[in-house]
Amino acid sequence: MYRIGKEEAEEVTKVLASKNMFKINDVNRECERFEEELREKFSVSHSIFVTSGFGALTSALTAIGAGPGDEIIIPAYTYIATAMAVVACGAIPVICDIDETYTIDVKKAEEKITERTKAIIPVHLQGFPCNMDAVLALAAKHNLLVVEDACQADGGSYKGRRLGTIGIAGAMSFNHFKIISAGEGGALLTNDDKIFARSLIYQDACAIAFFGNQLDGIDEPQFCGSEFRANEVSAAILRMQLRRLDGILSDLRKNKAKLTAILSKDYKIGKSNDIEGDCGTILPLVFDDEESAREFAAAFENEAFLPIDTGKHIYNNWTAIMEKRGAFNPLMDPFKHPKNIDYVPDYKNEVYPVTLSLLAKSVFIPINPDWTDEDIENIVDGFRKRAANK
Ligand SMILES: Cc1ncc(COP(=O)(O)O)c(C=O)c1O
Repeated sequence: MYRIGKEEAEEVTKVLASKNMFKINDVNRECERFEEELREKFSVSHSIFVTSGFGALTSALTAIGAGPGDEIIIPAYTYIATAMAVVACGAIPVICDIDETYTIDVKKAEEKITERTKAIIPVHLQGFPCNMDAVLALAAKHNLLVVEDACQADGGSYKGRRLGTIGIAGAMSFNHFKIISAGEGGALLTNDDKIFARSLIYQDACAIAFFGNQLDGIDEPQFCGSEFRANEVSAAILRMQLRRLDGILSDLRKNKAKLTAILSKDYKIGKSNDIEGDCGTILPLVFDDEESAREFAAAFENEAFLPIDTGKHIYNNWTAIMEKRGAFNPLMDPFKHPKNIDYVPDYKNEVYPVTLSLLAKSVFIPINPDWTDEDIENIVDGFRKRAANK
C-alpha cells in the first residue's frame, strides 16, 4: 500500500456509525458506489467487488466454463494464486516461460497449445504490462479466451487501455501489497454480460438470491458457487483509494523515469511492452550474471532485491502445484480427475530457462511515489559510496 490517510478513516467512521457493514444495503451503498466508480474509471460495463484477487480470478474462470478437460496457460513467473485459481476450477495449469519483459512469452505459449487449451492468463506482474496485442492475436488464432490477471497492476494500461479490461475478464487485487488497498479485496472487470452474470452468481452464491435485487436482469441459472462477498468498510476505504490511484501511478512513473535516467547511464534496464502504461512500481535492471546482480543489490541495501528470491512468485516454489496436489480430498483433485489425469504436465521436470536465468540476473528496485528529487539523489549517492567501498 502506498498512500492512505485521514480521508479513508473518515469514510470508515461513517460506515461504522451507520451500523451496517453488509455489502447489500440501502444505507451507505459503499460497495455499490465503488463498483460504479470502478466501471467509470476503467470504462467497462460490469464490475464486481469481491474479497480477493483470487476470488475475482476463480469467478472469471468459472464464468468462462473452465473445468476438467481444460488446460489454461499461465506464466512461470506469477504469484501461486494464478495457478491455484485454475486448479480451483478443475482445470490444469500449463506453465509457460516468460520473455525479457518479465511477462508471458507469447511465442512459447503458442507451442503449449493443444486441443484442450481453453484460455490463457496474461499476468501483468509487478505492474509490467504483457504484450496484449500478441496475446489477443494468439487467442484469436486458436480460439482461446483471455482472462487477465492484473492483481499486481491496479490502474496500469497497455496502449491506452487499462489492464484487466482487454481480455474477456480481468482480476484486480487490493491486498496490503497492492497499489491501492483495503488490506484485502479484489475486483472482477468485464464487458461481457454472461461472464458478469455467472461471476455474480458464483462470487456470492448464497446471498445472491436473498438480498436486494442483485438478480434483476440476470437470466443465467443459479448454481452453487463460493462466498467472496465484500463489505462496506473495505468499499469505503477503496472508494477513497480509487480517487488516489491515478495520482499514485503518475508519481510512481515519474520517480521511476527519474531513477531510470540516472541508472541507465551505467546499467541495462529491463525491457517493457509499454513503458507509459507500466505501473512504475519496479525499476528492473539486468546484469550479466547472478553474482553481479547480487553485488549491486547488496550495495543498494534494502532498496533492491533479486526477483529470483521472491518465493511463491516463481513456479518451482509452488509446492502444491509441483507436487500435483490439487485438493485435500483426492476425489476432488483436478490432477487426478479422469478427464485430466493423462495430460497433467510433469511440472518438476519441465524447464523454463528464461524465467530462471532472467530472474536470477535481474535486480528490482521498488519505486516510492513519495520520493522527492533529493531522496532519489541520496539513494543513488548512498549506493555509489557503498559500491566504491566494498
Ligand atoms: C499475480 C497475482 N495474482 C493473484 C493474486 C491473488 O490476489 P489476492 O491476494 O487478493 O487473493 C495475487 C496476490 O498477491 C497476485 O500477486
